[in-house]
Amino acid sequence: MKGRRYKMDSPLCWMLGLMLPLHVCAYPNGKVQSACSSMTPEHGVTAQTSPAPFNITVNQTVYTPGDKIIVKIVSSSIPIEGFLLQARTAANGKSPLGSFEITGENMQTLNCTTANSAVSHTSDAEKPVVEVIWNAPSKSAGDIKMRATVVANKTIFWVDIEGPKLTYQLSVASGIMGPTLGTHIFCNLLAISVFKIPFLELLNV
Ligand SMILES: *[C@@H]1O[C@H](CO)[C@@H](O)[C@H](O)[C@H]1NC(C)=O
Ligand SMILES: *[C@@H]1O[C@H](CO)[C@@H](O)[C@H](O)[C@H]1NC(C)=O
Ligand SMILES: *[C@@H]1O[C@H](CO)[C@@H](O)[C@H](O)[C@H]1NC(C)=O
Ligand SMILES: *[C@@H]1O[C@H](CO)[C@@H](O)[C@H](O)[C@H]1NC(C)=O
Repeated sequence: MKGRRYKMDSPLCWMLGLMLPLHVCAYPNGKVQSACSSMTPEHGVTAQTSPAPFNITVNQTVYTPGDKIIVKIVSSSIPIEGFLLQARTAANGKSPLGSFEITGENMQTLNCTTANSAVSHTSDAEKPVVEVIWNAPSKSAGDIKMRATVVANKTIFWVDIEGPKLTYQLSVASGIMGPTLGTHIFCNLLAISVFKIPFLELLNV
């Protein structure tokens, strides 16, 4: 079920398609929900084990609930024909967390367990860079790592490559309520804006 379909004009694809419906061929349209868990394309060949020729970058490595973070997949030497990007707990999480927003063409969000929790390609057009926005979960999810599978072509791909760690930090709003936080000066500076929130809640607006 995983992976991309071989090109529809391939006789092999038709033959295999008759024998193993939906099982073998590749998915140039990126509808790879079947790979949500393994992140592995089923192209009939094994993934590369060499160091991945791409990097995952983020514009901040600390996050609080609800933050928006820019995530990029940057390739130095290979074309990115296909990709699957997710955020999971740094401690080897199995399920994607948070949600993604796309910022350009040739990509789409996928519902992997929860809405828009993964991003993939929409065609096998070569993409020099992938740039998306990740919305951190509204509740603490702990430390996170971005993870990506990148497909250069039908036979060459790297699976489940880890990106930088995003360290979870209490938000200022919850921190000011906590007794152990050593950020009192900072919080005092922000107190006026922070205390507006419970005030507004009292007014029910
Ligand atoms: C990824 O980033 C590291 C550290 O900045 C750098 O040394 C490496 O060349 C980069 N690799 C690619 C494929 O961009
Ligand atoms: C990262 O980008 C997001 C989205 O533009 C922005 O809201 C956030 O403040 C940025 N973080 C940093 C540290 O610049
Ligand atoms: C697949 O991609 C690799 C890495 O970019 C390249 O060396 C190889 O020639 C490509 N093969 C095909 C069939 O396009
Ligand atoms: C993904 O989830 C959203 C929100 O629940 C829903 O509106 C959308 O139809 C779902 N998309 C697919 C392809 O299931």
